[in-house]
Parts: sequence; structure tokens; C-alpha cells
Amino acid sequence: MLQRGLTYLNCAAMGPTSRAVLEEVSRWSRELEANPAGEGYGALERGMDDVRVKAARLINASLPEVSLTTSVSHGMNIVAQGIDLQVGQRVLTTNQEHPSGQACWEYFARTRNAVIDVVQVPYDVRHGQEILRLFEAKITPQTRVISVSHVTSPTGIQMPVERIAQLAREHGCLCVVDGAQTVGAQPVDVKRIGCQAYAANGHKWLLGPKGTGFLFISEDARKEIDPQALQDGPNAYTKITGVANIPGMLGLGNAIDQLNSAGQTNIQKRIQELREYAYQELRKVSSVSLISPLAGELASPLLAFRIAGVKDYRSLWGLLSSKYSIVLKLVPQQYFSGALRISPHVYNNEEDIDRLIHAIKSGQG
Ligand SMILES: Cc1ncc(COP(=O)(O)O)c(C=O)c1O
Repeated sequence: MLQRGLTYLNCAAMGPTSRAVLEEVSRWSRELEANPAGEGYGALERGMDDVRVKAARLINASLPEVSLTTSVSHGMNIVAQGIDLQVGQRVLTTNQEHPSGQACWEYFARTRNAVIDVVQVPYDVRHGQEILRLFEAKITPQTRVISVSHVTSPTGIQMPVERIAQLAREHGCLCVVDGAQTVGAQPVDVKRIGCQAYAANGHKWLLGPKGTGFLFISEDARKEIDPQALQDGPNAYTKITGVANIPGMLGLGNAIDQLNSAGQTNIQKRIQELREYAYQELRKVSSVSLISPLAGELASPLLAFRIAGVKDYRSLWGLLSSKYSIVLKLVPQQYFSGALRISPHVYNNEEDIDRLIHAIKSGQG
């Protein structure tokens, strides 16, 4: 479905949905519109709960632990509201969170005088153990929540979430994981991670319809995370949720089916190949310095880099789009003074990376 001639290297911002899944969404829409209330409160409503079954299987959760959301941001807000931090309670998070992983806690800092502690994860960190030590140094007896991205947005660091979740358990606090950059790109097993909440979306690596997502809250933690949104249960339609984007949510199920038939590990392998190819090719360009980690425990499909001599990254980013039809991410200023980020998926190939390299080489001059 991507525009002809477009080199789309920005899945980490939004993934393109396949023609097959879009056709399913349109088929669901037609079914719904043929008898809106009959289908929407009937078979299609039950179909959305089947999507919850697929989502739960995908991340190794049980069905009551999974509810549908519109995004990771939505999921993070549901979790934060359900924890309901009180005066003096602390959240431990990092300098590399997406704004939506900050805003959900900032509300409680503003309205309840909760405290947010920020681990400064160096952009050039190279070992998970180093990250863990930074968390250990910042955790306090008042820390109630550790909130962390599974893969960070600005740098694509694969965080050691299993060890962070274990640290949280050792200190009697909750571990909340922002999974915006993982589900669909790599296998995710929430039980193995050992976190109490995990927020995912459908519109990035799952290549699903936009405005779809799901949220895991572990059954064991439901007393401590008790959001208003789940007071009538986790089903797709409750007296609290109201009507969802039914065709979109059903399309999320189709996107999960597509992922399963291609095989999550095959997809991960191909993404890793492309990421590694991009890493090596970018490395050969003398003006480029890579920010994201080398292949290994911290690597993910997100690759951020700087280019020597570039003062105005926004202009370069604009030029790459307007002149070369290459879409990538301009990393927001809050993280770096200037950087670009690519995030290849299986619909890309090595030639896309070659085009980027060519454009960087000629686009600077
Ligand atoms: C780490 C991270 N969290 C959250 C988000 C926001 O995702 P959503 O649009 O599903 O709320 C992003 C999007 O870029 C992200 O990178």
C-alpha cells in the first residue's frame, strides 16, 4: 500500500498496514454497516474478544489479563490511573522515555505530589548490567513503580527488562513496561519478563490498523493496579469502554494472524539482518556516527545516527523526504541536539538502505 517510489524507513513511528489486512478491515466495515447494532453488539463484538485471545497468546498472557486499547499512550494512562500514586510515592523511570510514558506519571506528580526519579541512561551505553546498576542506585523504599520502555524510542536500546522487573519485585514495587517498539518486531513474553503491566500497540511493528493496541495487567497485580477502565472487566465492550473502532480492532486480529503465519522469529531475523546491514553500511560513511548499540544484547531495529557537519537536521530530514522520497524519523530535540533514526521492517530491503546511504552522501552537499 505504500506510495510508489517511497523509501519508508519509519516503522517505529507508524507501520504500513498490508493490503490484505486493509481489505479485511473494509470487509468488517461492510459487515458492520449492514446491520450496525445487530453485528456491533453481536458477532463482531465477540470477534473483538477473539482478538484479545490472539493478543494474549502473542505475549503469553491469560485472557483476563488483556484488554484492548487505542495505543500505548492509552494503555500507560490506564495503568497509571489504576496505580493511583499518593503523596511522596515515587516512580523510577528513564531519560529515554517517549513523552507518553512520562505524561501518565507527571499527572500524579502535579496533582498528588508523587515524585518522579529519572535514571540517566547514557546514549552510548553498551551493557545491560550497566543499566541495571543505574536503576539499583536510584531505587528507594518509597519507589512504588518502575516504568520503562522495552526498547527506547530515541536510541533503540533494548532495555534489560527482565532484570529490571526482578529488581522491582525485590523492592516490592511494580514494573510497568512500554512495549511500543517491540510487539511485532520480536517475541515478547510478559511472564518471562515478570512485569506487572505491558502496553502494546497495533500500529507500529504489528503493521495493524491505526488507533489499535492492547494492554496486559497481570492477574496477581490487579489489586494494586485497579483502573477505572477495567471496573466492568477486560472485555472489548463494557459499560465503561463503550463502542470501539470495531473494524480496526478486528483488523488488529488479522494483522496478528499475518504475523503468526509469517512467524515472529522469521520476521525478527529478517529485521535484524536489515538492521545489521544498515549499521554496517552507515558505519562506512565517514561523516556518520551511530548512536544506537552494536549488534548484541542492547540492539533493536531502531538505529539512530548523527552526521558530522550537519547543523540543521530538520532541513536535512525535509530534503531526504522531498528530494529522495525517504521517510525516516527526526529524533526530537529533547533527546539530542540533532539526530536521525531509521527502523526497517520486512517490507524493506537492502536497496532501501543503499538509497539512504546514497542520499546522505549527496544530500549533505
Ligand atoms: C517507546 C514509545 N512509547 C510510546 C509511543 C507512543 O505510541 P502510541 O502512539 O501507541 O501511543 C511511542 C511512539 O513512537 C514510542 O516510541
